[in-house]
Amino acid sequence: MASYDLVIIGTGPGGYVCAVRAAQLGMKVAVVEKNATLGGTCLNVGCMPSKALLHASEMFEEAGHSFAKMGISVSEPKLDLPAMMNFKQQGIDGNVKGVDFLMKKNKIDVIHGKGKVLGTGKVEVSGGDGKTQVVETKHIVIATGSDIARLKGIEIDEKRIVSSTGALSLDKVPSSLLIVGAGVIGLELGSVWHRLGAKVTVVEFLDRILPGTDGEVAKQFQRILEKQGFAFKLGAKVTGVDTSGKTLSASVEPAAGGAAEKLEADVVLVCIGRVPYTEGLGLKEAGVALDNRGRVQIDLHFATSVKGIYAIGDVVAGPMLAHKAEDEGVACAEILAGQAGHVNYDAIPGVVYTTPEVSSVGKTEEELKQAGVAYTVGKFPFTANGRSKVNQTTDGFVKILADAKTDRVLGVHIIGREAGELIHEACVLMEFGGSAEDLARTCHAHPTRSEAVKEAALAVGKRAIHM
Ligand code: FAD
Ligand code: NAI
Repeated sequence: MASYDLVIIGTGPGGYVCAVRAAQLGMKVAVVEKNATLGGTCLNVGCMPSKALLHASEMFEEAGHSFAKMGISVSEPKLDLPAMMNFKQQGIDGNVKGVDFLMKKNKIDVIHGKGKVLGTGKVEVSGGDGKTQVVETKHIVIATGSDIARLKGIEIDEKRIVSSTGALSLDKVPSSLLIVGAGVIGLELGSVWHRLGAKVTVVEFLDRILPGTDGEVAKQFQRILEKQGFAFKLGAKVTGVDTSGKTLSASVEPAAGGAAEKLEADVVLVCIGRVPYTEGLGLKEAGVALDNRGRVQIDLHFATSVKGIYAIGDVVAGPMLAHKAEDEGVACAEILAGQAGHVNYDAIPGVVYTTPEVSSVGKTEEELKQAGVAYTVGKFPFTANGRSKVNQTTDGFVKILADAKTDRVLGVHIIGREAGELIHEACVLMEFGGSAEDLARTCHAHPTRSEAVKEAALAVGKRAIHM
């Protein structure tokens, strides 16, 4: 029987990063993966394929609509969807091979098959060939990630009624796409298909898009998306989809109840969140406790209710983000090696990779109000940023929230081009407990979009220069 210091179930960004860090710290490590390829949701059907399609569709849109005003004359771009899907697949393959390489480089054993916890120190792996093996290990980390949440009565066939997975692989551009849920997936994948020619309607249960993000940012984002051509039906829910006709017919009702209306669409994308994935893991039999939302319950050191069994990533509480899973993987491996691994949950950035992008870190204005914290706001629009003006990409703003007494930065929210890159100086600042004054006095290169971040910090003290 093979024996290890650590066996990790799942090779998404949580699992494979945990494996690499544990190997660096001298542990003998194996990973167990049920899918044919390593990398989990993120690399195979999540972050990476969606970003490849967002990039390619943005280039398509730019070539069709933005080149002429810069004096670049090209004939109308034609879409070759199979080639675009091939571009996406090459990106996936490159990253998946990268994880294979990291496993070899760090002498981590890869065991293909479905893992099941047999209790402290034992994992059973069932291969596709029907054979099972049991491996012995000092520690087990559960990193099995998450799965799509389903809507009762609406069956996902991944052809006409799709989840994010099907929406990443449609074989033709639907003339109309109905999206259920105005969260991150709906707005990112809605952007992809809208740019490629689909008429997009988003039905959202709440009275706003992107719940959890700063309200002012979400409002501006909705306006920009509407200008691009998105249609939103807020405060509404899809209660059923009739698949009998050539086009789908969805019943949409007010969230509070009332008369239903019918919306026709070629494709319906259901993206109403994700749920922890624990199927077949044997957690109940092993005595591993779950919380009231089916997530593996852990303490501050990622330990479950059973000795020697730990859990990280989407399968535990917290934002379902790849970088959160990675950081937990590192911290968990360090704790197992006797070090002081730690994740600062107050400084985890979030990014929506649309055009413009939306990014944030720390508290929103609504959260500060609710907590009764006195704060000051510094805001700076990209219309006043020189680089944005010359590039003619001036949508959006930077908003900084600082403690009214101490000036410590509590939250940063950006909507604008490259917002996903701009957010990281705020993350570093917040990790060091920095103030708006610290940011305002840091020299920023000119001309950059980052100057808008500095100006927003200056605006906290009511002394922005270019506004
Ligand atoms: P996962 O990546 O889900 O990996 C879990 C792995 O465990 C899988 O490979 C699975 O096959 C395996 N597994 C499960 N059970 C077993 C078992 N019993 N035995 C063996 N193996 C098992 N996050 C971001 O931060 N940025 C983004 O841009 C982003 N874009 C996304 C786009 C889409 C369309 C989706 C769906 C998600 C996106 N996410 C994004 C979220 C991100 O993918 C997840 O937060 C991340 O993958 C979680 O990592 P994980 O390691 O916890 O789990
Ligand atoms: P989400 O939680 O972001 O959004 C789901 C939306 O659906 C919410 O606005 C919710 O109010 C709405 N909703 C729920 N039930 C509904 C119903 N019956 N009818 C209408 N609307 C309903 O979930 P999403 O977009 O599915 O993404 C899942 C996870 O994947 C997210 O937690 C996110 O963190 C992660 N992800 C991250 C990305 C990124 O970081 N760029 C990109 C894509 C996904």
